[in-house]
Amino acid sequence: MNREENQEALTTSTKVEVLKNGPLLVYGTIEVKDKDGNTETKNKTTAFCRCSASGNKPYCDGSHIKAEFKD
Ligand code: FES
Repeated sequence: MNREENQEALTTSTKVEVLKNGPLLVYGTIEVKDKDGNTETKNKTTAFCRCSASGNKPYCDGSHIKAEFKD
């Protein structure tokens, strides 16, 4: 793998992290398709709601704190 290919592999890789008592974090560039079929490209870090209290699903809006989400 040459340097350009290696750099592309690094920038296109994704990492998923579950935050204790909080959202699911996805690191990297991803395409999100909503329930109506609309797609949106997200870069860097995207937080997805795990608690179901968000007013901006599927994304986390911080409502898990007020909802005292535990998991
Ligand atoms: S996890 Fe943050 S609002 Fe649901």
